[in-house]
This record gives sequence, C-alpha cells and structure tokens, in this order.
Amino acid sequence: MKKTLLASVALTVLAGVAWAADDEKAIQALVDQYISTGYQQGEKQHLERLKQDETLITCSETRNIPSPEQAKAIIEREKATIKYPEGNKMLGNWEKGKEVFNTGFAMRVGVISPDKADKPRGGNCYACHAADPKEVAAGNIGNSLTGYGKMRGNSEETVKYTYDKIFNSQSMMACSNMPRFGHNGVLSPEQIADLVAFLVDPASPVNK
Ligand code: HEC
Repeated sequence: MKKTLLASVALTVLAGVAWAADDEKAIQALVDQYISTGYQQGEKQHLERLKQDETLITCSETRNIPSPEQAKAIIEREKATIKYPEGNKMLGNWEKGKEVFNTGFAMRVGVISPDKADKPRGGNCYACHAADPKEVAAGNIGNSLTGYGKMRGNSEETVKYTYDKIFNSQSMMACSNMPRFGHNGVLSPEQIADLVAFLVDPASPVNK
C-alpha cells in the first residue's frame, strides 16, 4: 500500500517535470504577458525595468547557477558598466549615506498614485542587510554589515570594492540577488559614495 502510494507520487512528480520542461517557454510568455499588462495605471510605473537584459536572462535561464563561462561573461559585461563620481571621489558623507541606506523609495511599479518626481530615492538596504545596530528592523537575505569598516578598514582598496559592489553587484557575483543600484540608475554615483562612507567611516554608527 505504502509502496504504491510512493510510486504514484514519484510518477506524478516526474510527469510534472516533463510537462514543465515542454511548456516552460509558453508559461514564461504567459507570465511576461500578465506582468506587462498588470501595472498599466498611473504614471512613472517604470515598466521598462521589467524587461530582462542579457545578464538577467542568463541568470533566469540557469536558475542563478550560470556555467563558469557564462559567469565570466556576465562579470566582464557588468564591470564595464561601472561609472565613478567626479574626481573619482568614492568616499562621500556618511550622514547622507545613512539616509540613502534607510530610504525605501525608488522606481516602484504598481504604485496607486504617482510619487512626486523630486522625492529622494534610496537603496532600501535594510530590506536585506543589518547595519546600524540601533536600527530595529533589518532583513537577512544579505550578510550583516554591522562593524563593516571596523573589520575591513577604509583603505583605497576597501573603498573601491565597496563602491563597485553597490554600483553593480553582478560585476562581482554573476547572479547576485542584490540589485545593481548604479547600473539601474536607482542611485547616483554620489549617493553610492555616501553609502560607502556610511559603511567604512569610523564615525558612522555602523562602526560604533
Ligand atoms: C534584495 C536584497 C539586497 C538588497 C536590497 C541589498 N543587498 Fe547588498 N547584498 C545582498 C546579498 C545577497 C549579498 C551577498 C551576495 C553577494 O555578494 O552578492 C550582498 C552583499 C553586499 C555587500 C558585500 C558584503 C561583503 O561582505 O563583502 C555590500 C557592501 C552590500 N551588499 C551593500 C548593500 C547596500 C549599501 C545596499 C543598499 C543600497 C544593499 N546592499 C542592498 C543582498 C541585498
């Protein structure tokens, strides 16, 4: 009895896998259609961002496990997108960075009423990372950044690593779950420099 049940569960699962492989393209097309027609009300819906570029297509198709060749191609392509602030000043103001880290508004889709165009954008970093230990709520998809500068210092190398990671996380990890803030135009190079300061400046609450 038990064996029959197990066998029939296994068969159902197998059938499901075969079906998924056959119809994957059709299902994806349907999903794309639902998404593109689902958010048509209001201005500033940023629907352009729902279109996947070559990098995201590779990550989606490989379920975030690209082959070594694919990963290498992504990292090269994404590295080439990084832009730096005026005078290469990658270390900004930690107090401004604290705001950017915390602010959750940027390029939303599906908003009911349009946001004011001059509303400052942020990175919503707490959605995935802990940082200032006084902040009450933080997500944990990303690692904790508390004590970041205390542990790594603020050498030129650390500053550049941190800047590049925030500007385009996929220039380091091919299919990272962290958004490409600079590349997507969510944050400006100056805002990213301020975030770097928030993470590495010894005076920042992150390092207290
Ligand atoms: C959707 C989740 C998500 C968001 C939002 C996010 N990150 Fe990340 N972040 C990650 C993940 C996951 C990693 C680790 C994997 C990797 O390296 O890509 C990471 C890694 C990092 C690293 C490298 C950490 C190390 O130990 O070397 C830094 C620095 C960083 N994030 C800063 C930020 C900042 C600043 C923001 C806001 C502008 C931000 N992250 C927003 C998910 C996120």
